[in-house]
Amino acid sequence: MGFATDCIHAGQEPDPTTGAVTVPIYQTSTYVQEGLGKHKGYEYARTHNLTRRTLERNLAALEGGADAYCFASGMAAVQAVLTLVKAGQRVVVSDNVYGGTHRLFTKVLANYAVEFAFLDASDPGTLEKEAGRFDLLWIETPTNPLLKICDIRALADLARRRGAILVVDNTFMSPFFQRPLALGADIVVHSTTKFLNGHSDSVGGVAVAKEEKHAEWLRFVQNAAGAILSPFDAFLVLRGTKTLHLRMPRHEENARAVASFLVRHPKVQRLYWPGLPDHPGHAVHKGQASGFGALVSFELGGLEAAKRVLGRVRLCSLGESLGGVETLVSHPATMTHAGYTQAERDALGITSGLVRISVGCEDAADLVADLDQALSVA
Ligand SMILES: Cc1ncc(COP(=O)(O)O)c(C=O)c1O
Repeated sequence: MGFATDCIHAGQEPDPTTGAVTVPIYQTSTYVQEGLGKHKGYEYARTHNLTRRTLERNLAALEGGADAYCFASGMAAVQAVLTLVKAGQRVVVSDNVYGGTHRLFTKVLANYAVEFAFLDASDPGTLEKEAGRFDLLWIETPTNPLLKICDIRALADLARRRGAILVVDNTFMSPFFQRPLALGADIVVHSTTKFLNGHSDSVGGVAVAKEEKHAEWLRFVQNAAGAILSPFDAFLVLRGTKTLHLRMPRHEENARAVASFLVRHPKVQRLYWPGLPDHPGHAVHKGQASGFGALVSFELGGLEAAKRVLGRVRLCSLGESLGGVETLVSHPATMTHAGYTQAERDALGITSGLVRISVGCEDAADLVADLDQALSVA
């Protein structure tokens, strides 16, 4: 089936009891059993929940994986995937990943004798020389918030030659624009909080595995560690994915309008959006994704200018997160990337004058007008 059909139907059957076209919220903690060892395949809701399972089947289809498992947040999904790594192993991570991922790796998981190396993964040749031995390669592409591009095919090949697995955080693109498993990645993770849900009313995460052996481990960990997505959140994300194919083109069309306005604005010193022909990695991105997405970052040259603009936006809301139908603006240095040290942010170019926009689905002219009036005080 085509992508739109999968968004709406994959993994979903009319409810067997009533024929309800929308999968119900199975809000139950347990299931009555007919006798010892005799039940309908549902024993306890941490292990089995049909609303969650339906979403998992839907997301596995959208990413083209063997199976998918949903977690209580994007970070819970990240942590579940990292249980594939054992003490003494080494993880290479593309630099300027989401600050929460950096924090989990450096402040929590590093305590369990796993080594993390954060490296620029935008040039596979350089990475190959610098990476040394590794067991898992973790990338975001485009990265958060500088939108650096990593070549998924080349990095999948490198990981394979090292006997390692490649994990791609595909939150920024969604499977509508980019399907890393088809390009050679082993596992895809998402914060479903973002584009998959799309309506800024749920927090969740998913890990999708290409192969059954990784899926089986994720299934085991989901039940063993228990950081499951709630039935209500699963219902919301399932409703969100039904319109993913309608929302994503609109997000991108609006991002193009916003980027075209900002790139010409005299107060904007630098613009980051993969759709600009001179964006580093533009050609690589075009070769692995069908669109450029809705995240646009720009440099205003200093904290005071950023503060003034962020304090003046009206239609665009100042807030963390991304991927909702409403436009959100944020300040990575003090918000999403506060977990990095000042020195780490300086080295990466996450300056105090950097602003990130998650462009929503409003009328583009209204967004541009709002940014125009806000920038007048920069
Ligand atoms: C790229 C990326 N990955 C993972 C996460 C973590 O997701 P959550 O906030 O749902 O835990 C985020 C959150 O902003 C993100 O932007």
